Amino acid sequence: MEFPFDINQLFSERVSILDHTLFGARKSTGRPDLQAPIATVIDELGRASAKAQCLTAPVTSAFKLQSQKHEIYLLRDSEKNRGHDVVVGFLKVGYKKLFLLDSRGVHIEAEPLCVLDFYIEETLQRHGYGLELFDFMLQHKNLDPVLMAYDRPSPKFLSFLSKHYSLTQSVPQVNNFVVFESFFRYRPAAQ
Ligand code: ACO
Repeated sequence: MEFPFDINQLFSERVSILDHTLFGARKSTGRPDLQAPIATVIDELGRASAKAQCLTAPVTSAFKLQSQKHEIYLLRDSEKNRGHDVVVGFLKVGYKKLFLLDSRGVHIEAEPLCVLDFYIEETLQRHGYGLELFDFMLQHKNLDPVLMAYDRPSPKFLSFLSKHYSLTQSVPQVNNFVVFESFFRYRPAAQ
């Protein structure tokens, strides 16, 4: 995904972590003049993700990020043919209080880290970028993916979770979230 400004200046690292300030939490320059182009990138990514998932409206935008305690992991890479860096995609996560059913149908209240949006640019899908981004987030959060909840995962994302993390056995829920069997087994007792 290309933009009419220098991606390297906006995102100094290969993976940037953006919070409600819109700036990367790591080595952020925090320059106010960069806020508008960063917002443009987030809005564009949110629109592309919604289109890819056939959603009527984006779940990710700069405005929403500014008002929610969510984090975006944004991946850039050098586009060999074009000789400059491009935005490859993003992963949005955040904690949500959820009422979940375990495999016996017992209600459980939990506040897991949830995957809320995930998108890799169309022409770059199935090249391992999604795995790189997801693994980066897991290491940053020091978390096992089975302890996470997934908000309305698309068929591609379910296939991704099955392939890379062997997450296949989901426990039926009455909301849009998907959790896998071991979620209830390994969940910290204090949750
Ligand atoms: N069809 C089926 N499975 C796919 C596809 C596809 N077109 N693309 C990726 N996958 C899955 C497969 O398991 C694939 O393995 P395979 O090629 O051996 O079948 C695996 O992902 C590939 O792994 P990566 O290359 O690391 O994944 P990628 O970089 O493509 O990122 C992602 C995965 C983010 C799901 C990407 O395909 C994408 O952006 N899809 C469109 C948007 C989308 O559906 N996002 C998830 C929304 S749901 C949510 O966010 C809670």
